[in-house]
Amino acid sequence: MTARYTVALIGAGGYAGQVLHALLVHHPCISPRIVHAREPDDEALTVCAACDVVALATPSEAARGWTDALLRRGHRVLDLSDAHRLDPRAHYGLPELQGPPTPNTPLVANPGCYPTATLLVLRPLLDARLIEPEGIAVLGASGASGAGKGLRDDLHFCELHDNSFPYKVGEHRHTPEIEHVLGASVSFVTQLLPVVRGMLVTAFVRPRREPAQLLDGLRAAYEAHPWVTVLAEPGPGLGLRHVVGTHQALLAVGPRERSGLVPVFSTIDNLMRGAASQALHNLNLWLGLPPELGLPPPLLEPPTGLPGMSRMLP
Ligand SMILES: NC(=O)c1ccc[n+]([C@@H]2O[C@H](COP(=O)([O-])OP(=O)(O)OC[C@H]3O[C@@H](n4cnc5c(N)ncnc54)[C@H](OP(=O)(O)O)[C@@H]3O)[C@@H](O)[C@H]2O)c1
Repeated sequence: MTARYTVALIGAGGYAGQVLHALLVHHPCISPRIVHAREPDDEALTVCAACDVVALATPSEAARGWTDALLRRGHRVLDLSDAHRLDPRAHYGLPELQGPPTPNTPLVANPGCYPTATLLVLRPLLDARLIEPEGIAVLGASGASGAGKGLRDDLHFCELHDNSFPYKVGEHRHTPEIEHVLGASVSFVTQLLPVVRGMLVTAFVRPRREPAQLLDGLRAAYEAHPWVTVLAEPGPGLGLRHVVGTHQALLAVGPRERSGLVPVFSTIDNLMRGAASQALHNLNLWLGLPPELGLPPPLLEPPTGLPGMSRMLP
């Protein structure tokens, strides 16, 4: 592999930025270049101009300022924040559902962790008309690193250790993103888990077909996509520890409940598939590189019991 690319990384000291930096350091064709500036001053823009893509792993307000300045100068921007996920200029980078960004795309918006987990399990079911678009209810449970490294009262060790509780009920900022890409409205509730990494989304859907057909629909949708594994049934195989440190998404379909609803499930690592490894997947596709370069290898078998420590990557 001879082609070499350089990616400027802004926000490399944050949780998502640290993981993306670690992945880029080990990439065979891409080298990271950390930009320390807090605003797009001349020095920072000169560094960015020498790079093939600028990746932003900053809060969304900061990402807006950086993106405007960079796009004005003709640079390509990959934004991990939610600043541009509804922006018509941006390619929404969920590779299995949206395909690769075209080489002349100026801006790739990397989906968030909750939207990624939710869309991966719900979009194929809606696209294949296997579920009703109305009355979808989603519960997302996340490890505390999803909130970033900033200090917050409810993330204090004494609040979260040995504990779990809902947060931002009725006002979660990622609901519009999920609804926009899904093309359906959702009731969306989030919950903090006393773990550092990992996210489990459970959605209750009204089926148009039997659960076995929903399962077949998901399997067909992801047949050619090795980083999405559809399990035969929900259970310990969906455990967070199977995905932490990986790019894998694990999906499952439950039996029909007496209410008539069917639960469907999705597990990812919020910092990898929900942020950094998805950003790298998008970079590979955008730069015309093989998609697997620098990413943890896909799971070969659906997980069941305790995972091996060898899967614990950045
Ligand atoms: N954490 C996740 O699981 C996750 C998942 C999906 C998407 N995201 C998104 O990814 C972005 C980063 O998240 P995070 O969890 O890594 O946050 P974080 O831990 O709070 O890190 C944010 C980083 O941005 C830097 N920063 C802040 N303002 C800046 C500015 N004006 N210019 C340059 N850098 C600036 C910070 O610098 P200092 O180090 O100097 O404070 C820090 O390094 C957010 O938009 C978040 O919504 C995060």
